Amino acid sequence: MTDTTLDPAIADLVRGAAWVTVCSGAGMSAESNVPTFRDAETGLWERFDPTELATPQAWSRDSAMVWAWYQWRAKLVRSTTPNPGHVALAEWADRRTVMVVTQNVDDLHERAGSAVTAHLHGSLFEPRCSHCDLPYSGIDADPEVATETLRVQPPSCPRCLSEVRPGVVWFGEPLPSHAWERAADAAAGCDLLIVVGTSGIVYPAASLPERALAAGIPVIEINPEPTPLSSLVTHFMQTTAAVGLPALLQEVPPAG
Ligand SMILES: NC(=O)c1ccc[n+]([C@@H]2O[C@H](COP(=O)([O-])OP(=O)(O)OC[C@H]3O[C@@H](n4cnc5c(N)ncnc54)[C@H](O)[C@@H]3O)[C@@H](O)[C@H]2O)c1
Ligand SMILES: [Zn+2]
Repeated sequence: MTDTTLDPAIADLVRGAAWVTVCSGAGMSAESNVPTFRDAETGLWERFDPTELATPQAWSRDSAMVWAWYQWRAKLVRSTTPNPGHVALAEWADRRTVMVVTQNVDDLHERAGSAVTAHLHGSLFEPRCSHCDLPYSGIDADPEVATETLRVQPPSCPRCLSEVRPGVVWFGEPLPSHAWERAADAAAGCDLLIVVGTSGIVYPAASLPERALAAGIPVIEINPEPTPLSSLVTHFMQTTAAVGLPALLQEVPPAG
């Protein structure tokens, strides 16, 4: 999208949709300065490959390094704010039914005012016991007090004394089944699915737009770069989340 004029077919779809489900990925938060996995990391962690730290193997090998990396990411997210894309989705929910399904582990949708239907890959802010799953909220899990070092010993679970782990889904781990069920329902029942800021290569999240298309539900994709999904969707908007979502919202008349 090189100008601000919206394709009339996209405008019609958006106006006619009473229930919109949005599937967001790391690109949703890029304009809030939360790096995607593909962006080069800066500083302390630049020589590490995030996809190698986000694994159960990395945790078994060096839990103190993995804990420190997640504490650093949580601290980074705390220092950012929602962008106009997040804000547009929260405002959209005042006018229509909007369900947000996100692969993001940040809390920027919530801070913009959206009720998130499913955090498919968990949250940076919900650590839990690695053995008994008890949620952990001790002060030593607060990223504000984490030190900027390459290793921080994870806290111990007050119930079973095992190590507390980040509340995220690592590569190779199954998604939390309740989150996946909510996401699948949100994608199957909506009038319009919007996919924004995801490279569409991490499954099963990437299957949600495919399922919607197979069920005859129109799908709009927003991404500054084409993805494997772009040639399959109903409309591909080659733009960013903070530009594309407010442009769509302009087409949605206020409720009442
Ligand atoms: N903010 C976060 O919570 C965060 C950050 C990094 C990684 N992750 C995790 O990384 C995994 C990677 O999958 P993914 O597909 O979400 O991310 P990804 O890094 O694989 O892909 C990001 C996509 O966003 C697009 N993009 C970049 N800037 C954009 C913008 N301004 N507006 C819209 N799109 C933009 C890119 O072209 C790319 O297609 C996920 O499991 C996710 O949990 C999360
Ligand atoms: Zn425990």
